[in-house]
Amino acid sequence: MTIAHFRVTSSGSDSDDTAGTTDPNLQSWVDSIARLTRPDEVVWCDGSSREADELSKQLVAEGKLIKLNPEWRPNSYLARTSPTDVARVEDRTFICSTDPEDAGPTNNWADPAAMKDELRAVFAGSMRGRTMYVVPFSMGPLGGPISQLGVEITDSPYVVLNMGIMTRMGNAVLELIEAGARWVQTIHSVGYPLTDAAGETRPDVTWPCNDTKYIVQFPETREVWSYGSGYGGNALLSKKSFALRIASVMARDEGWLAEHMLLIKVTSPEGRAVHLAGAFPSACGKTNLSMLRPTIPGWTVETIGDDIAWLRPGPDGRLWAINPEAGFFGVAPGTGVETNPTAVQTVWGNTIFTNVALRDDGDVWWEGLTETPPSHLIDWEGNDWTPASPTPAAHPNSRFTVAAAQCPSISDDWEAAGGVPIDAILFGGRRATNVPLVAQARSWKHGVFMGATISSEKTAAAEGTVGELRRDPFAMLPFCGYNMADYWAHWLRVGKGLGSRAPEIFQVNWFRKGADGGFLWPGFGENSRVIEWIVRRIEGSTDAVDTPIGRLPAAGALNLGGLDLAEETVEQLFHIDRTSWLAECDLTEEYFAQFGDRVPAALLAELASVRYHLKG
Ligand code: GTP
Ligand code: SPV
Ligand code: MN
Repeated sequence: MTIAHFRVTSSGSDSDDTAGTTDPNLQSWVDSIARLTRPDEVVWCDGSSREADELSKQLVAEGKLIKLNPEWRPNSYLARTSPTDVARVEDRTFICSTDPEDAGPTNNWADPAAMKDELRAVFAGSMRGRTMYVVPFSMGPLGGPISQLGVEITDSPYVVLNMGIMTRMGNAVLELIEAGARWVQTIHSVGYPLTDAAGETRPDVTWPCNDTKYIVQFPETREVWSYGSGYGGNALLSKKSFALRIASVMARDEGWLAEHMLLIKVTSPEGRAVHLAGAFPSACGKTNLSMLRPTIPGWTVETIGDDIAWLRPGPDGRLWAINPEAGFFGVAPGTGVETNPTAVQTVWGNTIFTNVALRDDGDVWWEGLTETPPSHLIDWEGNDWTPASPTPAAHPNSRFTVAAAQCPSISDDWEAAGGVPIDAILFGGRRATNVPLVAQARSWKHGVFMGATISSEKTAAAEGTVGELRRDPFAMLPFCGYNMADYWAHWLRVGKGLGSRAPEIFQVNWFRKGADGGFLWPGFGENSRVIEWIVRRIEGSTDAVDTPIGRLPAAGALNLGGLDLAEETVEQLFHIDRTSWLAECDLTEEYFAQFGDRVPAALLAELASVRYHLKG
């Protein structure tokens, strides 16, 4: 190895080897990745605020972060990515199981051994001229019974800073690993070495990345290798790569669930608390619902998680859930004082903003933050912008990274190690037609059918055409680490184990549109009315009517008091058009067919039952 020296930040001293841990497996893995990627130095991240301060200072000095005006936004930064690196790259995301059938038709599969060779070739020397950071992290409270540990190796200090917010990171995690706890290996490189094998150097750029990208999961060996992107779920490997793709496989093998779900605690005017989990596709409202401010008196909603939930059957036979993350990586556009005041308050300071616009006074702005934009901004690409500009000032997938603890509505039990007991599960999508505002499943099996048939209009969270309808079962299409049909079977198995203690399941849709193309439902805080009906259904204290597609609020059961909604709008929100539902059933049949005989018979039976009722 031709590495000059290694800095071990955890002890604060310089030393000549990479030694950073007493755990031989972790040490030899770090050494082997350093030998492959050839960084100038290796830094073991301790998770201290001093470390975060030093890294931010360094990034500001290099022009890679802009320090925001502390008067408006203390200890906060703006990052601008390359315009080619703004969202998850699903066509470059791979599930490398031995058998392609185990990845299933909805994942990109590649042979694990061949992919490893390909990755070794691109990672060879990929960190030359850079620092390699070793980031030990915990998903969930340290040492908790539902928590899991991981280590991310990365050459991006921006990733280190984000991981410090999104996870519990640093020395305490290393100590658990050294005490023998199990952990998952994740490796990340932006793929922009500063020196080549011959020693030729090139200057760095503000957002190093590579046109060739790989986001690769090895579910059987529980490993992640990510190359070429520095942004979001592509690079913060704790998030979608580990907490969903790898964890969903661990969960299948061990009898739990790793889900793309928000978590909230809802308290009724009588003071009774229930916990809800909700799966919505990317950019379809999880963060918003998790921070909901009820417009109806007497109700409170507290935040536990906004993106990922791990759920486990507990000793009492109920389903218990944690938020494995420690921060929010939330969509900025559309987050405003009117729509999500809680999120706006959460990002008061100590926040990393990525791809939003910069105000002349050194604060940030994005579409929807305020009704009228400032008269001049620097847009997310670094160009002058005025309200007359034809392009948005902030990228549609621009985001904020902020600690969950900073959220004013965070629940007291958000860090309960054993989790919170789940009373209901919500499935939501962005549907202009067909799907009513709310419907309750007839049974767990019917609920699994509802989850399996979620579809949504495409959003900016992934590359592709925005607006096109796509199937996104359980909001897990880009995140399920194994065959989607096997995943449905796993859900059915878990439900069977829970029996009468299983949560109730509901489908919701805030996004139904009228003939004029506008949303029929006001959404946001008014969604509390739907939550009220759901809670009353859990209690068994309100009525529902059976329809072919599920149980809808009985006449007068949904609290619409004080809302200025025409009767005809309410009718449209719940209208079930038999012809278009039958057409949707045909599409569901086609969708299921691609999974062949792996589709659970119970789901085919649910489809048959919905059809039968629609025709009846
Ligand atoms: P990911 O972080 O990508 O998983 O997204 P998410 O599911 O957390 O979505 P988020 O809450 O960030 O919402 C995405 C977009 O949907 C934002 O622009 C919101 O303003 C908008 N949105 C959220 N809730 C509602 C609602 O009730 N009605 C309407 N019309 N829009 C909503
Ligand atoms: C999503 O796309 O669902 C996100 C953002 O939450 S990312 O972390 O990039 O996956
Ligand atoms: Mn998400």
